[in-house]
Amino acid sequence: MTHKSFHPPARTLMGPGPSDVNPRILEAMSRPTIGHLDPAFVGMMEEMKDLLRYAFQTEYALTMPVSAPGSAGMETCFVNLVQPGDRVVVCQNGVFGGRMKENVERCGGTPVMVEDAWGAPVDPHKVEAVLKANPDAHLLAFVHAETSTGALSDARLLAELAHSHDCLVIADTVTSLGGSPLRVSEWGLDAVYSGTQKCLSCTPGLSPVTFSERAVEVVKKRNAKVQSWFLDLNLVLGYWGGGGKRTYHHTAPVNALYGLHEALVILEEEGLEKAWQRHLDNHLALRAGLEAMGLSFVVAADSRLPQLNAVSIPAGVDDAAVRTRLLQEYNLEIGAGLGPMAGKIWRIGLMGYASNRTNVLLCLGALDAVLADMGAGIETGVAVGAAMKAFSQAG
Ligand SMILES: Cc1ncc(COP(=O)(O)O)c(C=O)c1O
Repeated sequence: MTHKSFHPPARTLMGPGPSDVNPRILEAMSRPTIGHLDPAFVGMMEEMKDLLRYAFQTEYALTMPVSAPGSAGMETCFVNLVQPGDRVVVCQNGVFGGRMKENVERCGGTPVMVEDAWGAPVDPHKVEAVLKANPDAHLLAFVHAETSTGALSDARLLAELAHSHDCLVIADTVTSLGGSPLRVSEWGLDAVYSGTQKCLSCTPGLSPVTFSERAVEVVKKRNAKVQSWFLDLNLVLGYWGGGGKRTYHHTAPVNALYGLHEALVILEEEGLEKAWQRHLDNHLALRAGLEAMGLSFVVAADSRLPQLNAVSIPAGVDDAAVRTRLLQEYNLEIGAGLGPMAGKIWRIGLMGYASNRTNVLLCLGALDAVLADMGAGIETGVAVGAAMKAFSQAG
């Protein structure tokens, strides 16, 4: 055997996720593995459900992490709520709305699409018109924070529209949870999924979900069996449901759940509103620096995500060469554009633990140095100063 242990390089993760993991979470994950039905573990699971209710701002009883990444949270919502023949209104303004469409089709449903430009939020007027034209639809699905473009949609208004047309709401909050205001119960979102690797700054691989009582009723009254055995909530709840006896469903990812528990404790210690404000303050400083450099944002200011900054790549600049130099020379990862935006934008994440002043200055300084060295037509030497000024104004 010539193979050795794998030691990853130490990077600063300022892409679209995963974000830098808080060392406290890594330490929690290294604690001894115990059985997933051990009373001590079960006690931790109950705490985790409360902590998730706080993070989501939800009172829903069915709140738990799915043992798989955000995509599995997405599938959990669709496979449980969509039956063959259902019409589902799906909003698409980036990559992830497209995956929702796929999910509806694979469940035997018919997606009715509401399309918006990549970089724009979901347009409530279009949604209302489609809901009116499709009175037989019973579900509206949208992405709250579109990671592929950095656009934030008005989840509260979309939910209001859906309910006034007797639709339940599926909302993707993978990138918004912990980073942008999200109030699941107050806004009446019915089936919500998220991820651990963005603003919770945990390791990737788990997907917190929360379901309203109305959504649970729909799942219980289904005629057709849920097509996925692993994601069938009727079965998963035998393990995650409260109260009675817990039965084996699958072997829970014990140490990953220690990590999520710690991430949620950290969020509770900071306070949700303070975390949202921190994401905003650091975004404003990064924005001041990027704009001073001459870079422009893809998304209009009133629907911009603080945790995902999408900027246009200056004309004539080689996207991949810049990202490679940032990685090699500064150990800094920023994200590339996806789909039609590939080669046209960079996505700079300021998520969770990675949303801090040090990272704002590192990113601006490194980008400035690399772009100036490559002869890009930017305003050089001013970005870091502009961010520092924004910090001093934030106090
Ligand atoms: C908005 C959104 N939805 C869903 C996903 C899928 O999550 P995962 O990659 O954890 O499966 C992502 C991942 O980046 C995302 O950004």
